[in-house]
Amino acid sequence: IKKIGVLTSGGDAPGMNAAIRGVVRTALTEGIEIYGIEDGYLGLYENRIKQLHRYSVSDIITRGGTFLGSARFPAFKEKETRAKAIENLKANGIDALVVIGGDGSYMGAVRLTEEGFPCIGLPGTIDNDIRGTDYTIGYFTALQTAVEAIDRLRDTCSSHHRISVIEIMGRGCGDLTLNAAVAGGCEFMIIPEVAYTKEDLIQEIKQGFAKGKKHAIVAVAEHMLDVNALAKDIEVAVQHETRATVLGHVQRGGSPVPYDRILGSRMGAYAVELLIQGQGGRSIGIQNGKLVHHDIMDALNNMKRPFDLDLYNTAKRLF
Ligand code: F6P
Repeated sequence: IKKIGVLTSGGDAPGMNAAIRGVVRTALTEGIEIYGIEDGYLGLYENRIKQLHRYSVSDIITRGGTFLGSARFPAFKEKETRAKAIENLKANGIDALVVIGGDGSYMGAVRLTEEGFPCIGLPGTIDNDIRGTDYTIGYFTALQTAVEAIDRLRDTCSSHHRISVIEIMGRGCGDLTLNAAVAGGCEFMIIPEVAYTKEDLIQEIKQGFAKGKKHAIVAVAEHMLDVNALAKDIEVAVQHETRATVLGHVQRGGSPVPYDRILGSRMGAYAVELLIQGQGGRSIGIQNGKLVHHDIMDALNNMKRPFDLDLYNTAKRLF
């Protein structure tokens, strides 16, 4: 293998820069040329590809976001779009591609691999929703950010004896909400993995106030309901002032915590090692503290992500 390409795609995540740096520096150490693709699959389609050097990745390990840029590019689902991308890769003499991103980005990597261009997927997303890995790059930084935000909201909702409803990201995966709720001492939570009804939630909140609660925090995973409407309903039913806060994209930014920098660095280096061994079409993960790799198509199509029911049950007892 002589030339490797690297791109970041989909929603950015803190630690993606560390992963790019891991890929770049390991490749160069092994005498392999490395090319950075701007703005994910969009830049690949538009042939925005530049050679990277050891110092192209200086001072980025501390930075959130991705210095290569990222994009959502739905047109990559089209075969003709991907054919152009493969043409560009080949024209640049690139032999393999490292894709750092979430679910949608993995899908693109699977398709390219099926169409004859070997890709390695690195899980880069705050959602922690990629199969075949315990953790994704960016998750722990987003968790830290969400917990800091909950702590701040707790201060003000405690002063005003209010109820606070907080929407947390995760795109169909409750990990960020569940873990932020436990760490932030939230009293109630709504996550996609566990069925709920608004009536039960309101009942539980009422019981909490009857037992002497003066304020409460409800953590809600995004896309489950309208948090502003829920706050109004709670206010009317519980007869207690209630406010909603959507944490939003704040959760995606910021300097990565050490774990995400280390995970990104390790996975980046591992991707190059696998490519040197001649392994393409793999998705990298960390399971029980060890780096692992799975068939990328199998990971995407067949594997399941475990839900931490124990933690959920513990949380319920702590509320
Ligand atoms: O996948 C990361 C994520 O931040 C999700 O948590 C969220 O649903 C989505 O991206 C938001 O996407 P966009 O930045 O395109 O609005």
